[in-house]
Amino acid sequence: MRVLVVGSGGREHALVWALSRGGGVDDLHAAPGNPGIAALATCHPVRADDHAALGSLALELRVDLVVVGPEGPLVAGLADDLRRRGIAVFGPSAAAARIEGSKTFAKDVMDAAGVATARTLPVAQPPCVLKADGLASGKGVWICRTQEELGAALHSAEALGQPFHAEELLEGPELSLFAVAAGGLAVALPPARDYKRIGDGDTGPNTGGMASFSPLPDVPDSDAAEILETIHLPVLRELARRGSPFHGLLYAGLMRTEDGLRVIEFNCRFGDPETQSILPRLESDLLPLLLGDLAGPPAVSAGAAVTVVLAARDYPARSDDRGTPIEGVDAAAATGALVLHAGTALHDGTLVTNGGRILDVVGLGENVTAARTAAYDAASRIDFAGMHYRTDIAANV
Ligand code: AMP
Ligand code: GLY
Repeated sequence: MRVLVVGSGGREHALVWALSRGGGVDDLHAAPGNPGIAALATCHPVRADDHAALGSLALELRVDLVVVGPEGPLVAGLADDLRRRGIAVFGPSAAAARIEGSKTFAKDVMDAAGVATARTLPVAQPPCVLKADGLASGKGVWICRTQEELGAALHSAEALGQPFHAEELLEGPELSLFAVAAGGLAVALPPARDYKRIGDGDTGPNTGGMASFSPLPDVPDSDAAEILETIHLPVLRELARRGSPFHGLLYAGLMRTEDGLRVIEFNCRFGDPETQSILPRLESDLLPLLLGDLAGPPAVSAGAAVTVVLAARDYPARSDDRGTPIEGVDAAAATGALVLHAGTALHDGTLVTNGGRILDVVGLGENVTAARTAAYDAASRIDFAGMHYRTDIAANV
């Protein structure tokens, strides 16, 4: 089988890594990929938002499957454009991707499906959450506990120039549950937790995601089937009923409140960096799932994975730190950890930073504590000027 993975971050490196381990893929390609992906796949300089060029590349390579990583192209209809050209795709149509692309649409689907989420408030009053309706790369959500925070949030939300709404502020631990879906059929992957804030103790601004781990002490893998049944499947059936069946990865961001699980958001693609902690735990091959063979849930190892993101100087305020040499990647990998590339480039054969989140170090172990130790041991061997990472990931688990 020949597979083309679209995207260039740590999530896509994890997907390529998982596909390269399984027996089913004998020829892997990526567009545009990154230097880490290039060790496992042939990278092509085609951007993820260039639908026409991706279609031509897929036809030229005669790929059996295209796996789309990021949400932007999916919401913009990449999967439709490829399917129209006869190319098999893992990733939803634009109509189904609205579950991530429009918060209003997602709420409407959840209401119709009877799935619990934060209540929309008729008037914005603290405590509440303001949310922009469309894709905002993690920058469209404002938690408002005070009138001052609400004032500032209203200002920022208006500046974004998108419709927005206010909703109930929920409290509790979060978890991510991914389901591989083909219309009304779906299987769950093991639950994971991500860390969105930049600083230790969940302080500072939100980021694209600074770390993740799996399994969770408070939501065992064995809970996944029931969550799938009560949250993902009703939504998948509702999307199919509306004539837009979802084929791809349906990601539920959930909060475990005192009143039970509530949906915070749905995404239409693999989460980053949860994917980096989930895929190493799969014992069965990823490819059949992506091809729609959903006969049963995949075999999952009892072992754990902890992913720590190494970010560039000034991230997330700025993500333009490029060209700084990176040292120690081989030494980190020699410890047995997986070192996935998120924002790297090669300059004259030297590995350098390419902005934002640079590397994801995935520690593996028989339990979360061992995986955490492995991740931090490997991370300590890597260095680049300005490098920073959270030190409290999966602590006391
Ligand atoms: P989202 O972009 O929807 O993933 O939201 C980003 C983060 O904002 C989530 O991971 C939560 O931590 C937080 N958040 C979003 N909606 C709510 C809510 N209704 N109550 C509490 N926290 C929320
Ligand atoms: N881990 C958050 C996201 O992928 O949106």
